[in-house]
Amino acid sequence: MKKQPILRLFYALWPDTATRAALQHLQQALPLNGRPVPADNLHITLAFLGEQADAFLPVLESILKRLPSPEFQLSLDKLGYFKGSRTAWIGMQTPPLALMELQADLERALKSEAITYVASGKFTPHVTLARSAAPLSAVVVRPLRWESAQLALVRSVLLPDGSRYEVIASR
Ligand code: 2AM
Repeated sequence: MKKQPILRLFYALWPDTATRAALQHLQQALPLNGRPVPADNLHITLAFLGEQADAFLPVLESILKRLPSPEFQLSLDKLGYFKGSRTAWIGMQTPPLALMELQADLERALKSEAITYVASGKFTPHVTLARSAAPLSAVVVRPLRWESAQLALVRSVLLPDGSRYEVIASR
């Protein structure tokens, strides 16, 4: 049987240019002890699918089209640290309900289409700023406004010098 090409995929909220620039500026200003995430890679993961046959792309794109529009604004106002993955991130004290519902809708759609994904448990929306990082000392951040988000299906290409992300579909 012919082998199908495999893609490493995830759904994300993709920042507009101004938000990406502000996030990069924040990365440079913070005492981040670790490997900063390249500016082009900054995003909020909604669901990580891992490796999928490319034959699933049409159904994955149709899920993207069916999701509600991300018509909310975000105020990134909380720095955090995941001990397990040693990542430093910025997220929200109180994420908007619409964002939490959007992510839950996405997981429901994936389940109903029998697409495997890494279940998030409790969804903690965040933008990873640095990997292999040390815990952040108590730094207060000025809330960073994220005005308009795009919903994106993204491919992660693993390269010797790190991952490169390619937006396959967005809206
Ligand atoms: P992170 O930013 O919290 O590390 C692409 O790899 C994106 O998917 C990353 O932003 C990463 O989130 C997220 N992700 C979630 N689970 C993952 C996993 N098991 N392996 C790799 N990436 C994962």
